[in-house]
Amino acid sequence: MSAVSEPAVSPSVTLRARPRPGLGAVWIGREEEELVMDVLKRKELFRYYGRDPKNPPAMAATLENEFAAMMGTKYALAVTSGTAALEVALGALGIGPGDEVIVPAWSWISCFTAVVRMGALPVLAEIDETFCLAPGEIARLKTSRTKAVMVVHYQGVAADMDAILAEARKAGIRVIEDCAESPGVIYRGRRVGSMGDIGTYSFQYQKTMTSGEGGMVVMNDPVLYERAVRMHDIGQMRVYHSQIVPPQVPSFSGSQFRMTELSAAVALAQLRRLDRVRAHCRSVQDRVRRGMGKLKGIGYRHIPDPEGDSGIEVYLYLETSELAAKFGARLNALNVNCEKTTGTYCHYGREYCVQRQASSPSASPFASFKEWPAKGYRKEDFPRTEGLICRFLAMPIGVLYSEEDGDYMAAMVRRVHGELLG
Ligand SMILES: Cc1ncc(COP(=O)(O)O)c(C=O)c1O
Repeated sequence: MSAVSEPAVSPSVTLRARPRPGLGAVWIGREEEELVMDVLKRKELFRYYGRDPKNPPAMAATLENEFAAMMGTKYALAVTSGTAALEVALGALGIGPGDEVIVPAWSWISCFTAVVRMGALPVLAEIDETFCLAPGEIARLKTSRTKAVMVVHYQGVAADMDAILAEARKAGIRVIEDCAESPGVIYRGRRVGSMGDIGTYSFQYQKTMTSGEGGMVVMNDPVLYERAVRMHDIGQMRVYHSQIVPPQVPSFSGSQFRMTELSAAVALAQLRRLDRVRAHCRSVQDRVRRGMGKLKGIGYRHIPDPEGDSGIEVYLYLETSELAAKFGARLNALNVNCEKTTGTYCHYGREYCVQRQASSPSASPFASFKEWPAKGYRKEDFPRTEGLICRFLAMPIGVLYSEEDGDYMAAMVRRVHGELLG
């Protein structure tokens, strides 16, 4: 293990201006304006009917069609958020009380809370150097009650899907792909979201494509599509959706997660630009990676398909948390952004898990645990995850970053490496 030394007095460096991070929101422009104005001029904000009952508005429908075409799925359903998308997916799969869903311990709040809100038990799994679900965890955690695994493609990188899909198939459980942070990302020729049973996306403001708030659910199975439609529209299957899939399952108590035409207009313009955002971030990332080269004492995030990620964040592992903190502070002082941008923490450390509450005590899937925190919900149960998350640095890349910014980031990493580890 390398010793952590104080930064040496180094020759002066010409600081480059700190680039402004940001993805889809930063490139909002004429295309969004035109589509939004189209909706406003027609005064038709609700997707299912407007002035002419025979000719309903088509922004959400067009968004769904183009989204499904890009992701390579038969169906897509627009919803109000990525959290709603997860609840719709779980509802479509019929997951509820008594069921278990395997969720990476390190993932966004909603991955856990959506499962709890459906009355099912989130079972926490280790991540690996991909920062996504570790292969082997399904086999380790599967019980007779496990119904699904939620694979979270964390921050622009697809999980190790070949291994995970094979394990899920063997275990006989369904696969939900949460692509909120990775829309358009490719894994060995396929877009994320299209490989499991059902895929979800978020269009929240900080995402690669955004409509302020919004989300999408994709799938190939017509029954899942119908159940998702019913789940997002208070149990209904309106004419528009019935023309896509003839109704074949009974109605049930769904929620109300319908997207407005205005959100759909913004999301549609963003979708049409998604691959450009990805290409731009990848080209900057490429400069950072090539410029850094291999540096002793620094590990890089494992990317199962390096041809397919979206390049929105470069991850470095240092050998200790102290070194990571020092490295990060020094990079920041050199105007290299390296703050965590996702607000992701381990579920077992967060209040909603520590308190093990649902909206009603009797709805809590944790009610039957005699001791709390139970095994599987304590920090010490996740040595692998803990061993990674305490010593990483994340350097975001945004659409306003230039290739020169990438070169500068790489040069500063090399410089700080020289100061602290040289
Ligand atoms: C992995 C993941 N899943 C789900 C969500 C929830 O999305 P939303 O904020 O649109 O509800 C997010 C949002 O940050 C996320 O990162």
